[in-house]
Amino acid sequence: MQFGHFDDARREYVITTPRTPLPWINYLGSERFFTLLSNTAGGYSFYLDARLRRLTRYRYNNAPLDSEGFHIYVKDGESVWNPGWQPVQADLDSYVCRHGLGYTVIEGAKGGVRAEQTLFVPLGGDCLLMRLRVTNESGAEKRLSVFPYIEFCLWDAMDDSSNFQRNFSTGEVEIEGAAIYHKTEYRERRDHYAVFWADRVPDGFDTAREKFLGTYGSPARPAAVFGAGCTGSVAHGWQPIAAQQFDLTLAPGASETIIFGLGYVENPREEKWEAPGVVNKTRAREMAARCASPAQFDAALEALAAYWDGLLGRYQVSSGEEKLDRMVNIWNQYQCMVTFNMSRSASYFESGMGRGMGFRDSCQDLLGFVHMIPERARARILDIAATQFPDGSAYHQYQPLTKKGNLDVGSGFNDDPLWLIAGVDAYLRETGDFGILDEIVPFDNDESLSQPLLEHLRRSFRFTKTHLGPHGLPLIGRADWNDCLNLNCFSEHPGESFQITGPSEGPVAESVFIGGMFVKYGRAWAAICRRVGLMEEADEAEAAVSRMEQAVLTAGWDGAWFRRAYDAFGQVVGGKECEEGQIFIEPQGMCVMAGIGKDSGQAAQALESVKERLDTKYGIVLLQPAYTRYHLELGEISSYPPGYKENAGIFCHNNPWIIAAETVVGHGDRAFDLYSRIAPAWREEISDLHKMEPYVYSQMIAGKDAKNFGQAKNSWLTGTAAWNFYVISQYILGVKPDWDGLKIDPCIPAGWDGYKISRSFRNAVYDIRIENPGHVCRGVKRVTADGREISGNVLPVFSDGRTHEVVVTLG
Ligand code: BGC
Repeated sequence: MQFGHFDDARREYVITTPRTPLPWINYLGSERFFTLLSNTAGGYSFYLDARLRRLTRYRYNNAPLDSEGFHIYVKDGESVWNPGWQPVQADLDSYVCRHGLGYTVIEGAKGGVRAEQTLFVPLGGDCLLMRLRVTNESGAEKRLSVFPYIEFCLWDAMDDSSNFQRNFSTGEVEIEGAAIYHKTEYRERRDHYAVFWADRVPDGFDTAREKFLGTYGSPARPAAVFGAGCTGSVAHGWQPIAAQQFDLTLAPGASETIIFGLGYVENPREEKWEAPGVVNKTRAREMAARCASPAQFDAALEALAAYWDGLLGRYQVSSGEEKLDRMVNIWNQYQCMVTFNMSRSASYFESGMGRGMGFRDSCQDLLGFVHMIPERARARILDIAATQFPDGSAYHQYQPLTKKGNLDVGSGFNDDPLWLIAGVDAYLRETGDFGILDEIVPFDNDESLSQPLLEHLRRSFRFTKTHLGPHGLPLIGRADWNDCLNLNCFSEHPGESFQITGPSEGPVAESVFIGGMFVKYGRAWAAICRRVGLMEEADEAEAAVSRMEQAVLTAGWDGAWFRRAYDAFGQVVGGKECEEGQIFIEPQGMCVMAGIGKDSGQAAQALESVKERLDTKYGIVLLQPAYTRYHLELGEISSYPPGYKENAGIFCHNNPWIIAAETVVGHGDRAFDLYSRIAPAWREEISDLHKMEPYVYSQMIAGKDAKNFGQAKNSWLTGTAAWNFYVISQYILGVKPDWDGLKIDPCIPAGWDGYKISRSFRNAVYDIRIENPGHVCRGVKRVTADGREISGNVLPVFSDGRTHEVVVTLG
């Protein structure tokens, strides 16, 4: 069952009922100001950091669901409704929500009145713009009132939702004309305020929630809307809000448009005040003036569309397979950009208060967006590297506002260092910008500990090399990619964090997965060394990689698949002698991607075991058999009920590792089959089961052991986005940025006749036509560029700003 459909021409997902299984959201903003917005106009805004600079309040996990946001109330006589249905939930005569690239349009009609709400964050502007267009479609004159309503958050979202003894006394606002200024704490250490404005002076307003909603009122039945209108309240403490009232008289067929804005303004300390106690509003007025007219609004919306054209245009496929094109050309790349902006901080599953930017997460996200925004990827790499410790280990997370490591979570996740090499490797292949390796970057954000980025990579590699266990495999520390495999932590007390309780290091617990990573990214490190003339170091690195490969192929091999780990007692995790958790997905994917066991046949055998034991119709589960009881020695993984999350859920992030691994052994049909099992566009038809947005990947789909097999959770902010784009664009469709050019090496279903790709790469456009007359999965027989045959399968770096015609014949 579906709740909408894709509109590929407009690059929108069109939701046709407000009663989606869960709120289906979009992200507005791609620079500093962000808004999460659901299909019923729920959501919130923040500036840079969803925890530390939250502009509007949102109550997660609330009932009723998703009732704070950017709602507009329409009052038509006795009838009160919202164009997005929520929060009043009055039945609408028609409803549609179009989530597009960085904008959303919500349109509802009732009783002969149509109201359309268009929201986006303009490029270069620290504000959310919202246009309301109300049309009288009835045959008679209409006297209506419309009320926009938002609730301010007192900046630090964590404090806002807990420190009521203080916060109920701090709230302050100012009202001037059509604008309401939220200036809580501005008198003390804050130099910023939020402002909500309209393009005309309203007929009424409220700034105290109690007055607008009523003391025991709710957004579903605001007292002011259902009663006598806004009261002109001025908030002193309690809950500052911005609500306005506009009384409209519309002749039959007439429309009225009002443009609103929610802005964030910073003032230099010496320019904070206009008069004693009066906020300096100059910048807010300028901000509002920049988008005051409908023409300015439209121009800003067009600029946004052009921005997205530019980003997505860098990789476009035309395959004849509608779902594939829609994922690659639109939604997967879009989601990659959202993970660039948000990492794992703010979604409808990440409260914005918990996790900031993940070290490993942000490094992996790079794989999905580096081709779109290489300059910003460069800056991101330097930010991430600056949180690394001098010994090569890393803070697991950092806050986007301060860019400082998050002490609460600390360090000790032993895969983290190697992901930095993965991210830099992807950046170098995309851009050829070796200059980044000379950038001087602090360790632990301490300038006195600064070293070139190259040194950071060296220490990443060395950290793993020097932290090996009894089998010569890397020590796991607190955890590796799988945050829930906590082999050094023995948690017996509820409420403890599995990841940070207990020692971060143990002398014995080892990870085969990090072993695979060390081979894959150790090779990348060795190649970087060679490129910068460090031949001896490259040789040493390769020798260490070979030793690791041997360790993985022996101590890490279980007979038919790769083991997962050794626990703190030296026992095998992920082996046939285990009672539960005999086989895990991660080492099969990572080790085969690294090429381990390719020549000996072990790689193919491991993938065969995956097929036999982990396959389901909705994707590959993380492990089997699921843990049915809590294993103290394994930690959080066994704390989830079977089939959920890391305990045998279909963890979408590592499905693409298997997909890539299948291409390593040349299985194009299987690779694409697995790709389509978890790709949202293919799952659209089961949206009632899937529950999450059908246009983006979710972190997890419940596995076959779960009650809700096939149901997804945790949409948007997941490494799944980057990995799937990386795998479909590079491993399956086979256009890979490489050191000296663009390598063409597809691995596709044998049935495909061919496809076209347009790829921008280092200042040239490559228009590539792939032909598959012999119906093979893999193998490049002939390549021509601009009519001339080239030897091998690496297209040269043209770097001439021109478009080049490439024809590739497989066979
Ligand atoms: C985290 C990742 C982790 C994954 C698997 C995600 O929630 O963001 O860092 O690799 O879970 O445990």
